[in-house]
Amino acid sequence: MTQGKRVLVTGAGGFIGHHLTSRLVADGYRVRGVDIKYPEYEPTRAQSFEILDLRRWSDCLQATREIDEVYNLAANMGGIGFIETNKAEITRDNSLINLHMLEAARVNQVSRFLFTSSACVYPGYRQDSPDVTPLAEEHAYPADAEDGYGWEKLFAERLCRHYTEDYGLETRVVRFHNIFGPLGTYDGGREKSPAAFCRKIAMAADNDSIEVWGDGKQTRSYCYIDDCIEGICRLMRSDHGEPLNLGQDRLISVDELVDMVAVAADKSIKKEYDTSKPQGVRGRNSDNSRLRSVLGWVPQTSLERGIEITYRWIREQLEARGDATR
Ligand SMILES: NC(=O)c1ccc[n+]([C@@H]2O[C@H](COP(=O)([O-])OP(=O)(O)OC[C@H]3O[C@@H](n4cnc5c(N)ncnc54)[C@H](O)[C@@H]3O)[C@@H](O)[C@H]2O)c1
Repeated sequence: MTQGKRVLVTGAGGFIGHHLTSRLVADGYRVRGVDIKYPEYEPTRAQSFEILDLRRWSDCLQATREIDEVYNLAANMGGIGFIETNKAEITRDNSLINLHMLEAARVNQVSRFLFTSSACVYPGYRQDSPDVTPLAEEHAYPADAEDGYGWEKLFAERLCRHYTEDYGLETRVVRFHNIFGPLGTYDGGREKSPAAFCRKIAMAADNDSIEVWGDGKQTRSYCYIDDCIEGICRLMRSDHGEPLNLGQDRLISVDELVDMVAVAADKSIKKEYDTSKPQGVRGRNSDNSRLRSVLGWVPQTSLERGIEITYRWIREQLEARGDATR
């Protein structure tokens, strides 16, 4: 029964939280959105939206009052350039948010709590080659997570497990693998690689060069936002209490990603590599075996289609401020 169920989305002013809010409202939930900021690109559809700082215990208590289910997406985060250079800030802020949100959910008798973890929990020693073996959920241990952001996510995953074991709070833990799409950050230093390439190529003229961090050979998988939202909703309704990957399992190199954006833009683009810039692990892919068996579903949107839609949206934003090049 979704009708009238009261749910809280934290991070509802952010990329995934905003899309999730729209979906939950459309599904008949009564949604309270909470964030330190309003959504940047369009108004929220949440029935109520409160500006709160979830690093504070009192704000977490306020956010979770009279709530049945929590989708906890709030986090201080960004692309690789941001997470590699702000480790203390990210680890402190997100640990505070997750500790206080779980405890506030317990105190306010929330029945179910979803935590958004990341592929950054997987150990570096499994990701040191571009033709990486896809990462299955059990590969997170022995742990050697991404320094800062990854450790803080892994710690919060454990905390969810302890709250389930010790207090009976039902938790769901999803590990996202590079989610992208419209209404996501595309400039300012917190953007991820697909959005950064869309912006750079939209601003470039035909036959221009764009800067690429690393040597272009590093590999990743990328998942379109609609699939991410569908996966979150399916996981929340499932009885699966262990961490679950949510991503595509199509591995491509950064070079191939740039070429795909150039095709969407209908431009010929050259690459200038900067190997002094942060580039993260050498290769990372999602093993979707458990996702398929637990949810009976895997992401459906092709990367080409997702990139085409995302490129068009970013180009429109840049055109509106006079920054795109035909
Ligand atoms: N986008 C991805 O590819 C990806 C990958 C792995 C994990 N995740 C996780 O998914 C969640 C959502 O990510 P996103 O891409 O939408 O990021 P986002 O940065 O767009 O959204 C996060 C939101 O949290 C809010 N926030 C930060 N500090 C807060 C605080 N103290 N109190 C209240 N709100 C606060 C931010 O203002 C922001 O709106 C995060 O937990 C992130 O770590 C995302």
